[in-house]
Amino acid sequence: MTDALEHLVLPRYPRPEGLHPPLDYPDYRSTALRHPKQPLIEVPQTLSELTGPLLGHDRVGELDHDLTRQHPEEPQGQRIIVYGKVLESGGRPVPDTLVEIWQANAGGRYRHQGDQHPSPLDPNFTGLGRCVTDREGNYKFITIQPGAYPWGNHPNAWRPAHIHFSLFGRQFTQRLVTQMYFPGDPLFPFDPIFNSVRDPKARERMISRFDLDTTVPDWALAFQWDIVLRGPDETPPDVD
Ligand SMILES: [Fe+2]
Repeated sequence: MTDALEHLVLPRYPRPEGLHPPLDYPDYRSTALRHPKQPLIEVPQTLSELTGPLLGHDRVGELDHDLTRQHPEEPQGQRIIVYGKVLESGGRPVPDTLVEIWQANAGGRYRHQGDQHPSPLDPNFTGLGRCVTDREGNYKFITIQPGAYPWGNHPNAWRPAHIHFSLFGRQFTQRLVTQMYFPGDPLFPFDPIFNSVRDPKARERMISRFDLDTTVPDWALAFQWDIVLRGPDETPPDVD
């Protein structure tokens, strides 16, 4: 690589006020312990951030997108289709990008040793899925509606039902980790994680849309959710 390319500094993306949750958010208690205590150091983005790593289709199994078919029998709960597009700023679709999800089961329990609250595990549900977007930036998962769960942040704290998403975008520096919510959840006003995104319009962008046209009669409900990686319509990232 020539010196000129070595020192090529790419344009930075703005971080709109109110859209990115504060790293230290008092209502979300554990951020007090883990937020950076020193001023952040800007690392220039250069060609190495553009050139990898990327994951290919061959790494993703045929059933990885279907969380209802990863065990001998189907999981308990309401079967749902979750689908949408991954977009860049300006609305351009992002093809061939890895989308990973993780979620609680229908009773709001994660298959993780850190989750010991008294709701049963489901032997037929792991709660992990992944897929790669197609040429038009589309992704699609089949899963079950996750339950709300208690999390001990404050007295009687319950998380609204949500699915965690991780996206890689076109480049490593575009990685987005966020959460998708379901429309009309009564727990929204009480959830510090949801409300750590201070801009109400940005909060709306974390809520999926019920899509009757995509439901499958006698089989599954459907929720549509587009994810925008950067720009003014960006989907807010997770506080942690
Ligand atoms: Fe969660």
